Amino acid sequence: MIIRKRQLFKVRKMLTVIKNKNEYLRGHSKRVCQLAIMLAEHLGLSQREIRIIKYGALLHDLGKVQVDNLILNKPGCLNDLEFEIIKRHPIFGTEMLQEHLNNKEILDIISYHHERWDGNGYPYKLRGEEIPLAARIVSIVDAFDAMTTVRPYRKVPFTIKEALEEILNNAGSQFDREIATAFCQKIAEKR
Ligand SMILES: [Fe+2]
Repeated sequence: MIIRKRQLFKVRKMLTVIKNKNEYLRGHSKRVCQLAIMLAEHLGLSQREIRIIKYGALLHDLGKVQVDNLILNKPGCLNDLEFEIIKRHPIFGTEMLQEHLNNKEILDIISYHHERWDGNGYPYKLRGEEIPLAARIVSIVDAFDAMTTVRPYRKVPFTIKEALEEILNNAGSQFDREIATAFCQKIAEKR
């Protein structure tokens, strides 16, 4: 069992908290989940791994509920302090969930979805395969969704083609090259 029955109640409650935080997070969490499942299936992962990715993707930005909407919805660039606060959301989210959920693989997705393949991510600066596979998957679809939707700091989203180019340009630096390539192939073939 991925999540014990009595823990599911708490997880559902956390999902409601995300949905109520702001409109972007509500849609983002759902889209990231759908894309992450699609990519995990494309990569041939097991049903168990796919279920872990499903919950991890739905909850990946849980920590943002502790960040003020004034920062999350700020139209311009973030100042250093605001960015430092944003960079802590993987830690906030893990802290909120860890006492309620004894599934390390799901918690790892929340902790590590902003790590980068080259070690320049946040908050732990893990690199390469130190970053769990599921977090590497969520990191790519998370970036793709952020690029292709309207954001407070960028009114005109990237086209799908531009977003895929951006992901391929960052394959091997920000993203795991193999997974990034597989994702772009899958999206291109769907269109
Ligand atoms: Fe995030």
